[in-house]
Amino acid sequence: MAITYEEALKRLEANGQGHLLRFWNSLSDVQRKVLLAQIEGLDFESLARMKAMIASGVAAKSLDDIEPAEVVPLSSAKEPKAVLAGEESIKKGAVGVILVAGGQGSRLGYEGPKGCYNIGPVSNASLFEIHSRKILGLEQKYQAKIPFYIMTSLANDQATRDFFSQNNYFGLSKDRVLFFVQGMWPAVDKDGKVILDAKDHLFMSPDGHGGILAALRERGMLDDMKNRKIETLFYFQVDNPLIEIAEPAFIGLHRLNNADISVKVCAKRDPDEGLGVVVIQNGRNSVVEYSELTKEQKHARLPDGELKFKYGSVAIHVFSLNFLVRESGAQLPLHVAHKKVPCCADDGNQVKPDKPNAYKFEKFIFDVIPDAATPLNVEFAREEEFSPVKNAEGSDSPITTRRDMTRKFCRWFESIGISVPRNNDGEPLHKIEIDPCFALGADDLRRKVAKDFKINADIFLK
Ligand code: UTP
Repeated sequence: MAITYEEALKRLEANGQGHLLRFWNSLSDVQRKVLLAQIEGLDFESLARMKAMIASGVAAKSLDDIEPAEVVPLSSAKEPKAVLAGEESIKKGAVGVILVAGGQGSRLGYEGPKGCYNIGPVSNASLFEIHSRKILGLEQKYQAKIPFYIMTSLANDQATRDFFSQNNYFGLSKDRVLFFVQGMWPAVDKDGKVILDAKDHLFMSPDGHGGILAALRERGMLDDMKNRKIETLFYFQVDNPLIEIAEPAFIGLHRLNNADISVKVCAKRDPDEGLGVVVIQNGRNSVVEYSELTKEQKHARLPDGELKFKYGSVAIHVFSLNFLVRESGAQLPLHVAHKKVPCCADDGNQVKPDKPNAYKFEKFIFDVIPDAATPLNVEFAREEEFSPVKNAEGSDSPITTRRDMTRKFCRWFESIGISVPRNNDGEPLHKIEIDPCFALGADDLRRKVAKDFKINADIFLK
């Protein structure tokens, strides 16, 4: 049964949040129900941590005791032994895929779940379609079953499910596509008080991709994974269509090293690129956010001229299920941002502030890394696997992502001896796209196209 007014008041007053019921007398029955349901879901333990964090000052602490972490170099990342081990795991049905798609995509400014955004340079396929077809391509290539776990948030869950259902799950078997929602957290003011954005409503936003640990457990996904005899999970983000999903060599390296978590890393473009870097701190591997590094640390060079903190994580991971189970109750650190959040004034009307008025908190998945007994960092070539759609224009935008997709497919053609017409700047003259079920890589392409194949127009091979 839902919580009563009296019970809500008691809980709120005990936690210094009694103001949330200040409009109670002017609310309709329906409004009261909605508000009580939100109050019932409040996580007072986390709220107390948020308040304590604000009180102790939210500025990032300086990290003077970090050293670069060890990284398996690109030259060793694709060893045949690793490829075989990865392929074996996939074939025996021990590999699952996790996609985090609960974010708000505010920088892109697209209405609806970011995964519905059309990105295929020729096909116009959505991000969700491209990811799903890669999993289907793997299933077909290895005669395997690969469950696809998709984390959404309350803000985009229904729209995401509808999109998959309307598109017939892009050919995947419906019983292997599992959606689960992450938690939502309120925003708080400088005194740790939860913000109402209407008389009957708390402002809430997703609790960060680190929310996946609790969500996997609470929504029964860990049990589902165990039931399906999954051992290894490939984890990625929704906005990167270059992703090599469950790439056998990466899965295999993880398995051969008995790793808890494996992290794909690439060389930063420049010292000021906003990627978190992989480091050793207090003898443990971890990822340190860009904003936590000093200017000196960002620019530090080794004697050979290379950046000292060179390798950035782009949130491509492999987890062992045992590690996810072990970590599913972990209390991850909080990350805070000072933001503008609409709030309800004393007269009951909503006000849109013109400067930051609220603290929003998130958990980040990479904060589990220090808990791993056997972490592994593996280098990858950025141009092959990473070109995210983050912004509406400029860098990491749809234009650069589509360009990078075409460039990648052109490299596949050239590596099998088929020439690609290019302009004076070396850019391909035509847009090229290859459906993942047609080929997952250059080797598949070699088997599928004739040696005298000509590229003289935009092409989409499927
Ligand atoms: P980003 O940090 O790029 O955030 O998320 P975002 O919400 O997509 O975009 P902005 O910052 O508002 O512009 C990286 C990945 O983590 C997922 C996103 O869906 C994306 O795949 N994510 C982020 C979640 O699943 N939940 C969250 O609470 C936050």
